[in-house]
Amino acid sequence: MRNTIAGLPGSKIREVANAGLGRSDVLAFWFGESDEVTPEAVRQAAADSLMRGETFYSHNLGLAELREALRHYTAGLHGDPGPDRIAVTSSGVTALMTAMQLLVDAGDEVVVVVPVWPNLPAQPQILGARITRVPLAPDATGAWRLDLDRLIAAVTPATRVLLVNAPNNPTGWTLTRDEQQVVLDHCRRTGTWIVADEVYDRVWFGDGPAAPSFMDIATPDDRLIVVHSFSKSFLMTGWRLGWLVLPSGQLDAVGKLIEFNSSCAPVFVQRGGLAALAMADDFVPGLIARLKAGRDALCPALAALPGVVSATPLGGMYAWFRAPGADDSLAFAKHLVVAHGLGLAPGAAFGAEGEGWLRWCFASQDTARLRAGVDRLQQALRL
Ligand SMILES: Cc1ncc(COP(=O)(O)O)c(C=O)c1O
Repeated sequence: MRNTIAGLPGSKIREVANAGLGRSDVLAFWFGESDEVTPEAVRQAAADSLMRGETFYSHNLGLAELREALRHYTAGLHGDPGPDRIAVTSSGVTALMTAMQLLVDAGDEVVVVVPVWPNLPAQPQILGARITRVPLAPDATGAWRLDLDRLIAAVTPATRVLLVNAPNNPTGWTLTRDEQQVVLDHCRRTGTWIVADEVYDRVWFGDGPAAPSFMDIATPDDRLIVVHSFSKSFLMTGWRLGWLVLPSGQLDAVGKLIEFNSSCAPVFVQRGGLAALAMADDFVPGLIARLKAGRDALCPALAALPGVVSATPLGGMYAWFRAPGADDSLAFAKHLVVAHGLGLAPGAAFGAEGEGWLRWCFASQDTARLRAGVDRLQQALRL
């Protein structure tokens, strides 16, 4: 085994989940997914595809009609990207890895804004990149902010890729349009690629149908790759379907990479994706309203607990909070599971910057379940 692989950290979220394995009394909010099943029309489209016998390989870049539908969907949110800029991938995480494989050689520098879902820095690390972490920091209300000057100072002509996830998992932090413009202008000067993980773009409680996107301000020739997923906006985590929006001229190379990784996404899964896009305008606003109800049931209740610091996020599906006694977040999260039947993700899973914090996924249809979780936390804190 390569030393790099041996040195990769295991998932601390899994470590906590394993502590509660086989227990049906645990209220689990540790993973980043809703407890709601994929819409029926999407499941039906995939089932129909299978029954038609669509069990064969497809084009590396995805079905032509799905790529066209994704172009149309993107156009509705951010303006028409134009032809030949979209590749379908077998999940958002594969989209991220494909982008890294396209851009990063061993020894290259990748700057990552953290804390963040651990897969983001792990992927360039696997490829032998040098990772520079630029930390967000909490203000007094518990909202995490970017020190823009610090980020700009970290990205130099030696930086191959800037990796940013906004809306951010776990903090809910989102780049403003002005910040995006400063970052884009700077990366144009340094020749740095931006890989923007925008899988939570629709999980957005601010103005408009989506969070600010780099696509709104970039040209097709900018060194920008945007990573997307069907997982969050269409309740399709188990389907493993995502896509990339690439600059002009990169599609053939990405097609080769997809060939060597998965060769293509399964056709019946892509048919599900097509059905999801067809119902997006009807479905997504209702989903966001349900997520918002979860957020509003949970975040103020957390913030009201003495000693707990928690802001209400504008994007993403997580409450991110500091609690007394959680300085060792992994030990505290394990204790919550074992002694109180409450399953949360430890902040340390998202890097040392998240230590002392906890992540709680509020994508639950049942707000009473969220409130029952708050009661358990309250007991654990002996309030
Ligand atoms: C920030 C971020 N990016 C990408 C993904 C990948 O999503 P998927 O691989 O399910 O498409 C996730 C999933 O949790 C995520 O949180």
